[in-house]
Amino acid sequence: MSMFDTPVNRRNTSAEKWDDLDHIFGSGDVLPMWVADMDFRAPEAVIKALHERAEHGVFGYSFLGDSYREAVAGWMLRRHQWQVDPEAVVHAPGVVPALFHLVGAFTSPGEEVIIQPPVYPPFARVVNNLGRKLLLNPLLRNQEGRYEMDFKQLESLMNGEAGRAKMLILCSPHNPVGRVWTRDELSALHELAERYNVLVVSDEIHADLTFSPNVHVPFAALSEQAKEHSIICTAPSKTFNLAALNTSNIIIHNPELRSKFKDQLSTYEAGQAGIFGLTAAEAAYTHGDEWLDECLDYIRSNMEGVLQHITRYKNKDGSPLVTAHLPEATYLLWLDFRPLGLTADELSAFMIKEARLGLNSGASFGREGEGFMRMNLACPRSIVDEALQRLNVAMERFTSGS
Ligand SMILES: Cc1ncc(COP(=O)(O)O)c(C=O)c1O
Repeated sequence: MSMFDTPVNRRNTSAEKWDDLDHIFGSGDVLPMWVADMDFRAPEAVIKALHERAEHGVFGYSFLGDSYREAVAGWMLRRHQWQVDPEAVVHAPGVVPALFHLVGAFTSPGEEVIIQPPVYPPFARVVNNLGRKLLLNPLLRNQEGRYEMDFKQLESLMNGEAGRAKMLILCSPHNPVGRVWTRDELSALHELAERYNVLVVSDEIHADLTFSPNVHVPFAALSEQAKEHSIICTAPSKTFNLAALNTSNIIIHNPELRSKFKDQLSTYEAGQAGIFGLTAAEAAYTHGDEWLDECLDYIRSNMEGVLQHITRYKNKDGSPLVTAHLPEATYLLWLDFRPLGLTADELSAFMIKEARLGLNSGASFGREGEGFMRMNLACPRSIVDEALQRLNVAMERFTSGS
């Protein structure tokens, strides 16, 4: 029995994932496996540190001290063999707010920003909401279902043929398709960005959730130039399930870029860090290694269970009705339901009404995601089992045509 087997009742805890189902899915009856947080308790060291800090009883203004910065740098070195200068760490209240301020600070209205769908929806939202122009470089999906970057099209979006991008927002590892970009892929991207003077903002919030033997390469660790010409967004929120503590670390080695970003945060009065977020993050980065290793093993076996299970869903001709691959990172499984022949809306309705599952519609990540669903497997096995039983009922009804 693993500590991750223990179910935690999250209902009535203001948990968006569990308590906002009527609003999100139009039904309180779905099993929630959508928004990217875990149904696990955070590491005990984090909970203890929060208790101690709460017990102190004084909650005045806080700031990012040396011990915090060193904890972040120590983690990056231990987990990613990446040497971070503690001074390069800038606090933001979340990666998404940081993306908003990065686009705001480093591009002007009307300038162009590349994203690579299917991808985490706030990337497009932030660019559009700020009146910048969105350039899409959809990922290519090869015969085996592996996603790759389209470097040819990428160059055309930088060199003036199809666009003249100022910035690229990279999702590394990539949510929702679970790719860990290889050093070669990142180097090819870096080369283009250097040639055409495109600032790379690399959202690496899922980096700590990389499954071996895949290796996450922080974009800034590629070369001295990459370190100077990129901004890396990290956070303890996915890694240790601390999303509601609103803490992220934006790592900017180039002093000019760093000072511009800090100015932007000051302009919007958005730089203040919450003491509970800082306390939890520092404890997690200092003591969380073992917990994370066990958590990753647990999630991986959840993934393997689902992958094994879905092989039973077959067409009359024996071809698969649902496919997926073990992600290289993230606790998010990208399920291909296209053989069902449903539209995106029909597929969502099928999941909610027939399977009673609350998953993310693939279409919400861009039209390239139509026919897919994203399933969050950072949950106890009992929830996975329940989900698969629910899916069985729906699939049996679908295949029997009733
Ligand atoms: C790629 C990516 N970036 C950012 C976030 C959210 O970051 P935050 O909660 O720090 O704003 C998520 C959450 O799912 C994500 O998948």
